Amino acid sequence: MTISALQKARAQYQPKLPKSLKGAVKIVDGAATESVADQAEIKQLFPNTYGMPLLSLEGASEAANFPAVNVGVILSGGQAPGGHNVISGIFDGIKKLNPESKLYGFLGGPGGLVDHKYMEITADYLEGFRNTGGFDIIGSGRTKLEEEAQFDKGLEILKELDIKALVIIGGDDSNTNACVLAEYYAAKNAGVQVVGCPKTIDGDLKNEMIETSFGFDTAVKVYSELIGNIQRDANSAKKYWHFIKLMGRSASHIGLEAALQTQPNITLISEEVAEKKQTLGEIVDYMAAIIAKRAANGENFGVALIPEGLVEFVPEMKALIAELNDLLAEGSETEAKFKSFADKAEGRAFVAGILSAESAKVYQSLPAVIADQLTLDRDPHGNVQVSLIETEKLLGEMVKTRLTEMKAAGEFKGKFGTQYHFFGYEGRCAAPSNFDADYCYSLGFTASVLIGAGKTGYMSSVRNTTAPADEWIAGGVPVTMMMNMEKRHGHMKPVIQKALVELDGAPFKFLVSNREKWAIETSYLYPGPIQYWGPTEVCDRPTVTLQLEQTK
Ligand code: FBP
Repeated sequence: MTISALQKARAQYQPKLPKSLKGAVKIVDGAATESVADQAEIKQLFPNTYGMPLLSLEGASEAANFPAVNVGVILSGGQAPGGHNVISGIFDGIKKLNPESKLYGFLGGPGGLVDHKYMEITADYLEGFRNTGGFDIIGSGRTKLEEEAQFDKGLEILKELDIKALVIIGGDDSNTNACVLAEYYAAKNAGVQVVGCPKTIDGDLKNEMIETSFGFDTAVKVYSELIGNIQRDANSAKKYWHFIKLMGRSASHIGLEAALQTQPNITLISEEVAEKKQTLGEIVDYMAAIIAKRAANGENFGVALIPEGLVEFVPEMKALIAELNDLLAEGSETEAKFKSFADKAEGRAFVAGILSAESAKVYQSLPAVIADQLTLDRDPHGNVQVSLIETEKLLGEMVKTRLTEMKAAGEFKGKFGTQYHFFGYEGRCAAPSNFDADYCYSLGFTASVLIGAGKTGYMSSVRNTTAPADEWIAGGVPVTMMMNMEKRHGHMKPVIQKALVELDGAPFKFLVSNREKWAIETSYLYPGPIQYWGPTEVCDRPTVTLQLEQTK
């Protein structure tokens, strides 16, 4: 296989580990834990894995003897930079426990466990993947491990391969399921531990004990580089407004962090829109007012950041989407009727006729192309795929209409030309930044220590991440500690709380205190590409979100 010069040089990088993991390691039990809410229900659902103590990993004077252990690993959900280093950390960690230990990867995500598709990850095979982006080492998938039949099927192959521990690398849902699996195997005395690792570029798996999910750092740095380049172009050509949608299915952490790194003119935050119950019209007015003010200063250009999940946070759109999900549910009469229209306009008229009066009004106010996206693109569960809705174009079209009205009223005297962008896949498999390379390797290594100590139902945790890696604090957090009960698909379920942007948190407050200035003045920051070699303040800097959150 031919590899690039960067890959060749980067393969030599030795990820940094916290001091406590460098030599012999011991585990110290902390306080017993409770779930964040709904303690009685969660305790009842997880009798074997509830209330376990927090664990911290500390340097020990003598290394213990460990028997060889076979470990399985699964990558779950969307790609995030650094996954290969989590696997490298697990591999090196279990080899340190005992050189005879083996690592098996289940192929194509959780489905690989159920379908018994696996491979042994050998030292030679792993070598080409160290410090690289992507999940191609074993592949990933979105199959949910939820059913007992899947757990039993998985156990067959785990027994066959004599696997004593499984590491599931995933987001909030995958780690919730990892905990359910840990509980199930513990209750069965199956002899298989399950440990989770926090992954997602969306950054919404975080709490007091999990400071950030891996991949967020690299992905946002890639988007910020691109946004900075676009800002420089906008400021050079002075003729376009760039509407940029940023990935992040639900929470707006990516948009917020990218804004802090680049200082664009407009940043929409979904959580704020929901809190203020803003309508699409109000959002459009807000954007149009900034565009008009800049135009009055002779600046007919700018950059607006739009979070991918925005439409679901706009109350009227949320209601419309919910109605559409019901009305166009797979197999329903209304869905069949809708599908019978060859002409799109007729289909839209039919949908408008069966919606409630309020939703019909919203639906009819949307540009036709967006209305079609809401009705045509549905996921396997029959839900609208919000990530396929071109929110940037929706807002662009609506802003254009608003500005035309303002021009007629003499309130806008400028020009409005747009360019649209969506950044998501560009960042998910980027070569991990030093932060992610080190953080992921440490998470994987920590998982191996938890496995060696016989722990199950824990998530690998590495904290104090704005300090140099040497001072990072490695440990284990009981997954049940992060859970509460939530309604999912009509049923109450124990789930890890999703971390949305906190409107009283330091990162959002920082945006609020600067956004008026950034809107009108051109205060762009140009972060440039991720650097792997060079001054530490450039190469090892954590996200602004982490720095602001950890400033006491
Ligand atoms: P995970 O939470 O599984 O890591 O995935 C996050 C994400 O990248 C979202 O930001 C995005 O909405 C979604 O995955 C896209 O999914 P897909 O890769 O299936 O198109």
